[in-house]
Amino acid sequence: MCGIVGYVGGQSALDVVIAGLRRLEYRGYDSAGVAVLADGGLAAAKKAGKLVNLEKELVERPLPAGVTGIGHTRWATHGAPTDANAHPHLDNAGRVAVVHNGIIENFAALRAELAGRGHDLGSETDTEVVSHLLAEAFSSSGDLAESMRQVCRRLEGAFTLVAVHADEPDVVVGARRNSPLVVGVGQGESFLASDVAAFIAHTRSAIELGQDQVVELRRDGVTVTDFAGDPAEVRSYHIDWDASAAEKGGYDYFMLKEIAEQPKAVADTLLGRIDAQGALTMDELRIPQSVLREADKVVIVACGTAFHAGLIAKYAIEHWTRLPCEVELASEFRYRDPILDRRTLVIAISQSGETMDTLMALRHAREQGAKVLAVCNTNGSTIPRESDAVLYTHAGPEVAVASTKAFLTQLVACYLLALYLGQRRGTKWGDEIRAVIKDLSQIAGEVERVLETMEPVRALARSLADKGTVLFLGRHVGYPVALEGALKLKELAYMHAEGFAAGELKHGPIALIEEDLPVVVVVPSPRGRSVLHDKIVSNIQEIRARGARTIVIAEEGDEAVVPYADHLIRIPATPTLLQPLVATVPLQVFACELATARGNEVDQPRNLAKSVTVE
Ligand code: F6R
Repeated sequence: MCGIVGYVGGQSALDVVIAGLRRLEYRGYDSAGVAVLADGGLAAAKKAGKLVNLEKELVERPLPAGVTGIGHTRWATHGAPTDANAHPHLDNAGRVAVVHNGIIENFAALRAELAGRGHDLGSETDTEVVSHLLAEAFSSSGDLAESMRQVCRRLEGAFTLVAVHADEPDVVVGARRNSPLVVGVGQGESFLASDVAAFIAHTRSAIELGQDQVVELRRDGVTVTDFAGDPAEVRSYHIDWDASAAEKGGYDYFMLKEIAEQPKAVADTLLGRIDAQGALTMDELRIPQSVLREADKVVIVACGTAFHAGLIAKYAIEHWTRLPCEVELASEFRYRDPILDRRTLVIAISQSGETMDTLMALRHAREQGAKVLAVCNTNGSTIPRESDAVLYTHAGPEVAVASTKAFLTQLVACYLLALYLGQRRGTKWGDEIRAVIKDLSQIAGEVERVLETMEPVRALARSLADKGTVLFLGRHVGYPVALEGALKLKELAYMHAEGFAAGELKHGPIALIEEDLPVVVVVPSPRGRSVLHDKIVSNIQEIRARGARTIVIAEEGDEAVVPYADHLIRIPATPTLLQPLVATVPLQVFACELATARGNEVDQPRNLAKSVTVE
């Protein structure tokens, strides 16, 4: 939820930390702060609002130069986004500074205990207790890493903590439990961050930190232990994208860049998974074939946009494998005591790999004996690490808070998985699989074509900037696309937007239709399941007769919709199940343009953070 950076090396710590925070601002942007060790002491600055407020503060009141520092960009959980509640938090003597991501659940008890010992806690945050506990522990151990271990053993909840102490000016210490933290290893410098994007400009060499581990960072290397102090095994990896992937690259917003990158993201996600004969090769999955063959049910868990990908995957999985497939919001999953056993295959979909609701759902599933396969975009993140197998999407870093290219690649990965299940279970013949793969291989080009024709969609969006409500309708796989279109509009344009299954209209939502209300309708192909198409044409007529302004997304050559479309958005013809890959794109463009026209911050919508690491 929050973004954290730590640095020790030969450069100005402040410069490295601020540049890192800029790349992590997508994680939280309601306040920011830094601390540097210099001249035998510790200096800190923090400010409510975006990072730019902190930068202004640093110009007006510069901090002394130092080569060891930490920083934080916040998405508030405990306490409003004020200067006082911003991180870092210091102890009363101002010798320790701590930044934190997550929630410390037993903070009230710890706070009372510290107050009883005479500590003066000035903020409303749970984090502040850690700086005070660390100061106490350091006064007896004289060792920040050891103090961190002692403190972590007392904490309950999910946390990433990064701290510095004025008496150890060449050391940064980090700890993690259920919250992300990665180490960057450079030449004579070391980094800690919530996401590799923070240090990718300096090094592409990274170390994954495991659960309940403490890392001591020095210029010449890092030491990792568990909370008890025993040495921990570390896994190093090379980051296979470079700094430019996390830059806007000439676009006004990351979201625009990420929408434009979708053809490549789709193609990259297919890469290496199709052999020269056009058949599927999924050896990377490393899941026993018996698990795939013997599964009697698939359960997909995910949140938000990833959940919509799961809803679409259900159609493909059930159609191609004849396995029953349930899709469940990860946040609801474990609370309804789902029926799971060793024959249940759970698919956890997550761009970030850190979404706490999804993580908790997969842990619950594994505890019940189910096998969990992650579909994830972030190498080495917690969800794939805790799953039995992983299929990575290759969207590259997604920085804009609203998910776009990750969604399309999640769809591609789910189609591949569904086909692979069909292959392994013998419900699909090789030539049938090859035919779908051929269609999938052409999709990147079709997405490109959609992107080339978006100017009328942008103009339409601008013309609707003063509307209060937009509805979205779809049938079959077009229904989750409608949900996704509505979600994009809510989070970016802050408009009332609802997605409905078109067949549900007459069971209630049709009462919402009034004169000139914009209704976007995702029309299935008239080829293939033509019954779906005919039904939705009737739905369009029903809403238009009641005054709706119809915005119809239909494939090229579908003439039946023309008389009923006030605005017609054409998409290339695709097989029915694959249509979401092209039909979603205009909805992303529509939401992005509407948000811009309404003067909203496209990449950083209010109240949201990219990575939701709390439940
Ligand atoms: C919407 C959006 C969110 C995420 C959701 C899950 O545009 O981005 O709804 O899809 O928070 O995030 P991940 O995929 O990281 O688990």
